[in-house]
Amino acid sequence: MTVATRTGLDTIPAYRQGKSPAPAEGLAPYKLSSNENPYPPLPAVVEAVAEAAAALNLYPDMSAAALAGAVARHWGVQPENLAFGAGSVEVASQLIHAVASPGDEVMFAWRSFEAYPVLATVSGAVPVPVPLTADGGHDLDAMLAAITDKTRLIFVCNPNNPNGAVLSADAVEAFVAAVPADILVVIDEAYLHFNVDPGTAVGVDLFRRHPHVAVLHTFSKAYGLAGLRLGYAIARPELVANLRKVAVPFAVTALAQAAGLASLAAEGQLQERIDVLVAERERLHAGLLAAGLPVRPSQANFLWLDAGVATAQVAAAFEAAAIAVRAFPGEGLRISIGSPEANDRVLGLARRLAVAVPA
Ligand SMILES: Cc1ncc(COP(=O)(O)O)c(C=O)c1O
Repeated sequence: MTVATRTGLDTIPAYRQGKSPAPAEGLAPYKLSSNENPYPPLPAVVEAVAEAAAALNLYPDMSAAALAGAVARHWGVQPENLAFGAGSVEVASQLIHAVASPGDEVMFAWRSFEAYPVLATVSGAVPVPVPLTADGGHDLDAMLAAITDKTRLIFVCNPNNPNGAVLSADAVEAFVAAVPADILVVIDEAYLHFNVDPGTAVGVDLFRRHPHVAVLHTFSKAYGLAGLRLGYAIARPELVANLRKVAVPFAVTALAQAAGLASLAAEGQLQERIDVLVAERERLHAGLLAAGLPVRPSQANFLWLDAGVATAQVAAAFEAAAIAVRAFPGEGLRISIGSPEANDRVLGLARRLAVAVPA
C-alpha cells in the first residue's frame, strides 16, 4: 500500500536542474548549464553572511525590512511595492497562486523559462504556451489573440531564457496596453543586468505606467547569489499583500537578506563583473559565428546554438570536453557564459562542432 497522492500529480512535469559536467581526464570541468555566475561571491558578501550566521537560532525578518528599504531606494519604488521569495522562481509561484484559481490560464511564450509550465500546473492552473516567432521572439500578437476569459497571468521573459532574445520598449508597451487591466502581466527580468540593448523594454518603467504589471528580479544571476535563493517582485501594494499571503512563511533566510543588502552596497564591483561577462558573451558569440555555427545574438548571460537535429551530437562533444551545457533535444543548446577559460574551451570546440551542425 502506498500513500495516496493528489489527483493529476502524474501529469506535472518535474523541473530539470542543469547538469553537472562529466569528468574528463586532464580537463578542468566547467558547468555552463544553469546560467550561473562564474565569479565567487564578493568578500564583503561572504562577510555579511558569516555575520548573519551568528544569529541562526532566530527566525528571519519575514518582511525583509532592511533589504526592502535598500531595493526600494535602488528602483525608486516604495517598500510596499516589494515581495521577496526564495529565488524569483518562488516569487513567480506566489504570483500564480495569488491570481489564478484552479482551471484559470497562465500564458507564456514557448520556448521560455522551463519553470513556467511546472509552476502553473502545480498551482492547479492551465499553462498556455504560445510559440515564439520564427526568429525566436515573443509572438505578442499571438499572445494577445490567445487571451480568454480564463487568462489571469501572462509571463513576458525579457531577455528570454533560453535564447537571449529581447523585446523592444514599444512592443511591450503596446502589448501591455492591449491586455485587459484585470490580467496580470509579469515582466521576468532575471537577466536584466546583462541586457545592454538601448531599445529594450524596462520592467520598472512599465510597472510605473500600468497597474496590471509586476516585475520579477533575482539576485541569482548578475549578483551571483544563486545558492542563497533570493528574488523579488515589484508590484502594486494590494498584490504585494496577496503575495505575502500565499508565500511560504520564512522562506527568505536571514543569510539571503544579509547577502542581498551587502550586494546592493557593492554594486560598483558587481558591475565590473557584469561588464566582463557581457564582453565575454560578445567574444564567444563572434567566435562561434566565425566558426560557422548558427548562434543567436543574446542579451543575457548565455547563448543559444540552433543545433536542430544535431543537438544530441553537439551535446556529446561538449560532454567529452568536460563542459555541461543545456541541451533541448531536436532544438538546440543553451551555453552559459563562463569564466574566460571556460569560454576558451567552448571556442576551441567550435570548429569541430561546425561540421556537425546544419548551417
Ligand atoms: C527567466 C528566469 N526567471 C527566473 C529564474 C529563477 O531564478 P531564481 O529562482 O534563481 O531567482 C530563472 C532561472 O534560471 C530564469 O531563467
